[in-house]
Amino acid sequence: MKRSIDEHAERFSAVAAEYDEQQDSDEYAACASMVIDAADPGPEETVLDLGTGTGAIALALASDAGRVIGRDISEGMLAEARRKADAAGHENVAFGEGRFREPNVDAAVDVVVSNFAMHHLADDEKREAIEVIADLDPRRFVLGDVMLSGEIPEGEEAFSPEVDDPATVGVLVETLTDAGFSVSSATLVSDQYGVLVADR
Ligand SMILES: C[S@@+](CC[C@H](N)C(=O)[O-])C[C@H]1O[C@@H](n2cnc3c(N)ncnc32)[C@H](O)[C@@H]1O
Repeated sequence: MKRSIDEHAERFSAVAAEYDEQQDSDEYAACASMVIDAADPGPEETVLDLGTGTGAIALALASDAGRVIGRDISEGMLAEARRKADAAGHENVAFGEGRFREPNVDAAVDVVVSNFAMHHLADDEKREAIEVIADLDPRRFVLGDVMLSGEIPEGEEAFSPEVDDPATVGVLVETLTDAGFSVSSATLVSDQYGVLVADR
């Protein structure tokens, strides 16, 4: 991780009020939409959204799922997520503090999703996080994120190398497979963004 948890939390809390309107890239829209479609929870199922931010994915799944749990490290982002859940009248969504490697969840989880968040972890930390997710025993994990098809020449990154630490698609697929998932689909929306669907 190129910044501590506290630094990442502070960074996101500082921009929480403007975060939603800043997510205007085609890559973000494509990944978010694919994550929501692939999650496809049933009406009795519980979804866990890790790095939920202002709740874009969690809230989009609230009408279809039985229950949605959003976890994040930034109180500012969580406050925005709670405000939006209240405004939409979603009573089956709960947002709270939790991190990839300590999600702070005691309920059974059927589907885990994460969009544009895991790239803050170094690859060994992503491995630990994916093992923690596997231990929750979901039937599916859908990961939308910055993920690299290969080496990106310096200066051509579509992310911020000083704070972001994306893995290659190959490393992510290997890590998911080692944790007992079977990657049923890998869709790249560019050479730096994509969505992986991993089933048990
Ligand atoms: C770019 S935002 C993405 C938010 C949301 N998933 C979306 O699609 O709009 C990244 C989020 O990941 C959170 N985050 C960063 N590191 C985290 C960690 N170790 N555990 C949980 N959340 C983390 C940040 O606080 C931030 O809210």
